[in-house]
This record gives sequence, structure tokens and C-alpha cells, in this order.
Amino acid sequence: MRVSASVPSRILLGVGAGIAAYKACELTRRLRDAGAEVRVVLTANAERFVTATTFQALSGQPVRTSLWDAAAEAAMGHIELARWADRIVIAPATADLIARLAHGRADDLLTTLCLASERPPLLVPAMNHAMWAHPATQANVATLRARGVELLGPAVGDQACGESGPGRMVEPADIIAALSRIPLDGALAGRRVVCSAGPTYEDLDPVRFIGNRSSGRMGFAIAAAAQAAGAQVTLIAGPVSLATPAGVTRIDVRSAQAMLAAMTAAAAEADIVIAVAAVADYRPAAASAGKIRKSGAALTLTLVENPDILAALTALPRRPFLVGFAAETEDLEARARAKLARKGIDLIAANRVGDGLGIETEDNALELYWPGGHASLPRAPKPQLAQQLIAAIAGRLAAPRGTPA
Ligand code: C5P
Repeated sequence: MRVSASVPSRILLGVGAGIAAYKACELTRRLRDAGAEVRVVLTANAERFVTATTFQALSGQPVRTSLWDAAAEAAMGHIELARWADRIVIAPATADLIARLAHGRADDLLTTLCLASERPPLLVPAMNHAMWAHPATQANVATLRARGVELLGPAVGDQACGESGPGRMVEPADIIAALSRIPLDGALAGRRVVCSAGPTYEDLDPVRFIGNRSSGRMGFAIAAAAQAAGAQVTLIAGPVSLATPAGVTRIDVRSAQAMLAAMTAAAAEADIVIAVAAVADYRPAAASAGKIRKSGAALTLTLVENPDILAALTALPRRPFLVGFAAETEDLEARARAKLARKGIDLIAANRVGDGLGIETEDNALELYWPGGHASLPRAPKPQLAQQLIAAIAGRLAAPRGTPA
């Protein structure tokens, strides 16, 4: 089964003059790790934030900053450079760069390259939230979008200027994922997908709980990928601080029992359920109504087992295609296959926890097992892996029952 994707091989990275330029260094590195040849063009003011030497070292290629560099033009002229690129990526794309691109200006090397290229660039905006919200910027963005330019972000959150709102540059891992997007067009069109994500919190008293370190990133990325593949997606999220993916219906829950109730109701109408949440195996037998006080002696908590949500869904009268996750530290295949059989589900995505992978990390790697078959999804940023998982699920749904691979 082919489910992998890769970034375009020749990427021209344009860096605008914003503090997020420091993240473009990491992006250069990651693009090279993903196998791309990267040539960097800095705007004149971008050099005030990060030096050309930094990008030269990271890209292993000469960096260009000016249209008027005779030696660089002799080596590869700007029109040649524009044609060389499979994709132009501008990160960070400042309000000024967006304005100049919207108006077709060619007053420096980067804008000239964009005008000379036949392929629309990918813009990754980063700026103060008020600058982003300004009608002038929004009109420029609309002009560019109408011309087929893709904009990624901005993300919402704390900004370097000390304020908060939409304006943060999307993280390098998500830019890589966007560049390596698998064409999922319509792979899940008309399907209803329910996805769970994040941890559950089991309350001990009004201020304390038992939780776990799940960030929710994998589940949110899967919900976004399913939505991008044409599915109608309901995301049942434990307590996480992540923005809801566009077009996805989100239901927030706290405990395993609340997640069971929400999942059972949503799954009754679903075609596919993907259980990514790290559900607490145990909960306190009773949550204390008041705050538990120090007594000077040891404290014993009595925990009772939580219901297995996935296993419960196998009993639904209209049973959806059920996908589970298994985080393991050893005997990955044996344990994952045992779990597949024990829970009576259709596919399990297993990951080895540790070595910088799994919970609370940006990257992951998955082994997929289903009755009689197996596929490996090698280490990749979670959004990219999510697309590959959705492609694999779509493949399994299309395959006649009992097909091994
Ligand atoms: O048995 P284990 O917890 O390792 O299984 C993990 C898988 O089962 C995940 O897909 C998780 O969302 C799901 N699960 C569940 N209900 C539980 C515990 C785990 O649905 N109580």
C-alpha cells in the first residue's frame, strides 16, 4: 500500500523581515532532512533578524539578498532561479510582503522571483494580530487567494510583541506537512468520522485530578486530515489547548466516562471511529466534594477501572470501522496485534514511546496492523503522518474484506 508523500525537491525559501525569521532556520533544516534542496532568499530587512551566513550554513547553498548582486546573477540569474524552484515558500510572510505581492510589485529580489514564477507561492504569514486583522491586509490576502496563492496560518497564540491573537507563524513541522500533503481529495467524501483526542482528567477533588501527558496533537491532526479528505468530522477532545481544525465539529469532554457518553452517541451515526485519546485506565472510586486535606499520614486512593470505550463501540447495532491506537515500549507487534484482537477492532496504529517519539512530541512513527496485513509509516511530523493514516484507512475501507495489504 503506497501511503507516503514527500516535499517538493527544489524549494526556494523566501524569508521576510519579522521576528519569526528565526523559525525559518529550523524550517530550512527540516526541509533538507526531508530530502529537499533549499535555496534561501532574504529580503533586505530580514537580514536585521537572521544573517545570510546562518542560512548558507543550514542550506549548504549560497544565499541571495539582492537583485543587484552581479556575481550571483552570473551564477544563476533571477529568472533561472524562479524557474528552478518546484515551489516558492515565503516564511515569514510579513504584512508588507503580502501587500507588495498582492499588487504585483517587483521592487526587490523576492517579489521579482514571485512575479517571474508560473507557480503560486505558499505564504506563511507572521505579524502582529492587529496588522493581520487590518482591512488592508485582509483585502490583500483575498486578492492573493483569488489568484490561487495558498496561505498557511497564521496560528493563534502569544506573540513576540507580548500580545496575543492570530499572527503567529505556523510551526515548521506543519509547513513541511502542508508541502508534503498527499492528494486526499475526496478519499473520505460522504463518510462520517468520529475522532477522539487528548488525555482524560479524572477528578480527585475540586482542584486535583489524575491525567496524562497526551498533547492531543496527533488526534487533532487526524481530524484535520479526515476533514481535508472530504469527511464530516466530529472531534471529541479531552482537556487540551489546541485550536479546532477548520470545518471540524468539536465536543469537549473531561473524564473517561464523559468521553464514553460522547463517543457512543456520535459513533452511532459514524462510518469510521478513530480513537486517538489517551483515556485514563482508572479513576478515583469517588471524587471528594471538598479539597482533600493533608493529614500528616500516608494517603491511600482507591481507583476503579474505566470502561474501554473502543471495545464498547464494537457492540453498536450499526458498527463503524474502528481504529485504535497503541503506545508501547516493547514487543510492539505482538502487543498491538493482541490489542487488535482483544478489542475486536479493524485497524490498530501502534507507536513505540520513547526515543523522542510518541506522547508530547512533534514527530511520530506508526506501524499499522489489521487482520492479515501490515504497513509502516516512518518517522514524520504528526500532521504528515495523519494524512498517511487517513490514506491508509481509506485504502482499507475500499479493500474487499480479508484483503491482507
Ligand atoms: O488498551 P489501551 O489503553 O492500550 O488501548 C489504547 C486504545 O484504546 C486507544 O485507541 C484508546 O483511545 C482506546 N481506549 C479506549 N478506552 C479506554 C482506554 C483506551 O477507547 N478506556
